[in-house]
Amino acid sequence: MQHFLDISDFSAVQISGLLKRAHQLKAKPLAEDVLANRSVGMIFEKPSTRTRVSFEVGIRQLGGQPLMLSSSDLQIGRGETIHDTAKVLSRYLDMVMIRCLKHETLMELANHADMPVINGLTNRSHPCQIMADMLTIEQRFGSLDGRVISWFGDGNNVLNSWIDAAALFDFELRIAGPAAYHPDETRLAEARAKGARILVTDNAIAAAENADVLMTDVWISMGDDEGTRRQDLSPFQVNDSLMSKAKDSAIFMHCLPAWRDMEVSAEVIDGPQSAVFDQAENRLHAQKAVMGFLAEHMTR
Ligand code: CP
Ligand code: NVA
Repeated sequence: MQHFLDISDFSAVQISGLLKRAHQLKAKPLAEDVLANRSVGMIFEKPSTRTRVSFEVGIRQLGGQPLMLSSSDLQIGRGETIHDTAKVLSRYLDMVMIRCLKHETLMELANHADMPVINGLTNRSHPCQIMADMLTIEQRFGSLDGRVISWFGDGNNVLNSWIDAAALFDFELRIAGPAAYHPDETRLAEARAKGARILVTDNAIAAAENADVLMTDVWISMGDDEGTRRQDLSPFQVNDSLMSKAKDSAIFMHCLPAWRDMEVSAEVIDGPQSAVFDQAENRLHAQKAVMGFLAEHMTR
């Protein structure tokens, strides 16, 4: 069964193909009806604005029926196993997207579902977001090749999917944050072993110098404790001073939701270099390409 669980499960050729399809769908949103007569469930264990709405609209534009399934309304909320839930939902649905607290829940659903499963964010990764982000960068710069993409702050789920992407494409990924917030060494080592060019530093200015993209995300992800995160991460705020170190043509990116004047200053996120709403829009096009690909690989 072909799922969409992590960028690292795919080749560069496959991801490039999905991005090409996403560009085409952006130009002609109603060009495909690959989900005609198909039902796609969306399970949410955590809140969402973009993922929920972009999937629902995308499923409808592809001719399918979306079903919104909040985990608190399902029997999983009362202890029914993921195994049984996967088996039962597979009898009704043709595809399912899940946003869950633990990555293990996604893997268990995928292991037992008889239909494609899409990762709509876990504590460990957010591959749909990075598909949209890569689409945004390709649109702005023509290609990912040769770009310098710099990340500031927490080494979180969104960054992990960027690390996976760095193993596939020819861009440099720079990661700036306090050592305690650096990403998982194993994930970094696996990406580097596949050829990823990744710099990890605690020097925000060094990471910003001559970069094409400055990117950040919330300091406190869903499910995280606040602890000392605000104090620890404040030197990594993306603001005008940091943006001035990057290329004049540089853009600012953030998956949203954003906390203004925490991880990013209001002047940057609301300024002329900000690409955040293009990113949000591109979730729709990128996910339609993913769902189209999965629908074509379904065995029933
Ligand atoms: N970027 C993103 O996944 O947003 P939501 O949490 O609103 O879905
Ligand atoms: N890192 C954030 C992303 C939200 C889309 C979180 O997990 O809360």
